[in-house]
Amino acid sequence: MLKIFILGKNIYEPLYFQRNFKERFKGFICCVKKQNRKGDKKMCGIVGFVGKKDASPILVEGLSKLEYRGYDSAGVAILKDNSIEVLKCKGRLKNLEEKLEESPIKGNIGIGHTRWATHGEPSDVNSHPHSNKNESISVVHNGIIENYLNIKEWLMSKGYEFLSETDTEVIPNLVDYYYNGDILDAVMKATAKMEGSYALGVICTKEPDRIIAVRKDSPLIIGVGKGEYFIASDIPAVLNHTREVYLLNDKEFVVLTDEGVEIFDENKEKIEKEIFHVTWNADAAEKGGYEDFMLKEIHEQPRAIRDTMASRIIKGKPIVLDKIKLTKEDLKNYNKIYIVACGTAYHAGVVGKTVIERLARIPVEVDIASEFRYRDPIMDKNTLVMIISQSGETADSLAVLRESKKKGCRVIAVTNVVGSSVSREADDVLYTLAGPEIAVASTKAYVTQLVAMYIIALYFAEVKETTSKEEIESIKEELLNLPEKAEKVLENKEILQKFAAQNYMHKDMFYLGRGLDYAVSMEGSLKLKEITYIHSEAYAGGELKHGPIALIEKGTVVISTITQMDLKDKMISNIREVVTRGAKTLAITFEGNEEVEKSVDSAIYIPKTLDILSPILSVIPLQLISYYVAKEKNCDVDKPRNLAKSVTVE
Ligand code: AGP
Ligand code: GLU
Repeated sequence: MLKIFILGKNIYEPLYFQRNFKERFKGFICCVKKQNRKGDKKMCGIVGFVGKKDASPILVEGLSKLEYRGYDSAGVAILKDNSIEVLKCKGRLKNLEEKLEESPIKGNIGIGHTRWATHGEPSDVNSHPHSNKNESISVVHNGIIENYLNIKEWLMSKGYEFLSETDTEVIPNLVDYYYNGDILDAVMKATAKMEGSYALGVICTKEPDRIIAVRKDSPLIIGVGKGEYFIASDIPAVLNHTREVYLLNDKEFVVLTDEGVEIFDENKEKIEKEIFHVTWNADAAEKGGYEDFMLKEIHEQPRAIRDTMASRIIKGKPIVLDKIKLTKEDLKNYNKIYIVACGTAYHAGVVGKTVIERLARIPVEVDIASEFRYRDPIMDKNTLVMIISQSGETADSLAVLRESKKKGCRVIAVTNVVGSSVSREADDVLYTLAGPEIAVASTKAYVTQLVAMYIIALYFAEVKETTSKEEIESIKEELLNLPEKAEKVLENKEILQKFAAQNYMHKDMFYLGRGLDYAVSMEGSLKLKEITYIHSEAYAGGELKHGPIALIEKGTVVISTITQMDLKDKMISNIREVVTRGAKTLAITFEGNEEVEKSVDSAIYIPKTLDILSPILSVIPLQLISYYVAKEKNCDVDKPRNLAKSVTVE
């Protein structure tokens, strides 16, 4: 079901037009809201070219336009005279450019990749393109093959060998296995075996005139030039060559030659698609049509949550904590868990404390790294330390990791960057799969850190048998529903924009909550401070009367989160305390909890979920409030003053 809004303002929404959308809007923004479209996960990037020109410089230029998506390695594969030459290396794109300048690769057809590692740390061998053993097939991939281990084992039983640690490397070998004279057929058969997300570019020496491309859950567009054709993860990569593109849907297969483009469905039936004419400039295109990276990343949260749970939370199966193996004996020996982090990551740790203690019954202490490291904490081999860090490079968090290891503690890292310092120095790593987070204010990384906390808490509870199998299963089942519920929360925009338009001029805003709602309020308050420069505090609802309520006066804005239903009545009376002192109040609560509305000026309803899981949903309105207030104040949302994305200094 499609909803189409036409806004007179310059607030962007996803601008992915679908076929049979004829008119082009100049000056107006026409936003198409996809009810049934999974948020396109921007991880890194693939490009491809076929035409009369030299492919290599066009591929590198296209990859440079995808640079904003962050990456850790890059590579190209060029087809010429029935052989494929591959050049790939760890590090920034300029390393690849320099190598290509030293030893250019000629050829008019090729594929390229910038990697944001998910499986296998950044290295030359793990970078893309990946090939089969005789290098007759080369593949670039954006996404995650969730069942790659099963496929890898199966291929190895057929005699296939592997060089890298990546999930991607199974693809060229699977295509090789199915190749029987038709590369399109082979790609169709291979992708039918694959679970997870992918945008693929495939070239083959036995059919040297073509590129095969296909997508599922990762973005991919086809550029249509004059006698030259392109594939790319995103529109910016082709804008220097064409503004005519096909927007691919899942499981649409494309054959590109220098004579044109053919598109097939998964039954190999030809598809006629409308060309989409790109009217955006490059800057708007990098943000996928969103006005800011932060808004784009807020909208990527459903996909990021889904990816972080993938192959770890499976109905009816034990939790998989990747390579982390903690036995019942290990866990019995840990008499204390410290969760240590900074900023938003610390707020995720506060949620982690509650869920781990509630489900696994192990005492957890959570602390900010800059304090923890100087308070001579009590720790030894019976202490488990968890470091949460999106960048994996935060100086204070890294210092705590090193100190903990010196004292004989086991350290688990929860980080978003494969190969980061924290990931390399910890004993164990659980990656959040949020993809590159560009905006300084963390959003999708935070919600995936929460998911990581739930995964760890459930794993501990399973191993220690401190929570019944039934309760664990019901929590897992509801976790798997959250991406869709998060999409629904994102539809609350209008009321949040209105609240922001009415309140952006305030100098103070207070956030109230109890239990997990207090933890989320901390994060909501930080978001507001970071990007709107408005002073804000988060308070436990029950703490107000011990002093802070003296700050409340007529018109003071108080935003409350009420999802912990056992504390609802107490929260409502806290709200009444501030209302009687003249506060303007907004509440975030579950659908069906209408009685809250009688106590506040306005309420935002989020889909009902288990109280223990509510932070993943209740933080989203708080993120959007900060975003829209910042827009009303014309603040630089993506690069707020005084802040850096990663604080690598103490
Ligand atoms: C979050 O919005 C901030 N940018 C900041 O608090 C951040 O969470 C903190 O610096 C920790 O960064 P890390 O997760 O990369 O360690
Ligand atoms: N999962 C693949 C890898 O880790 C692709 C990651 C990406 O999209 O860059 O190599």
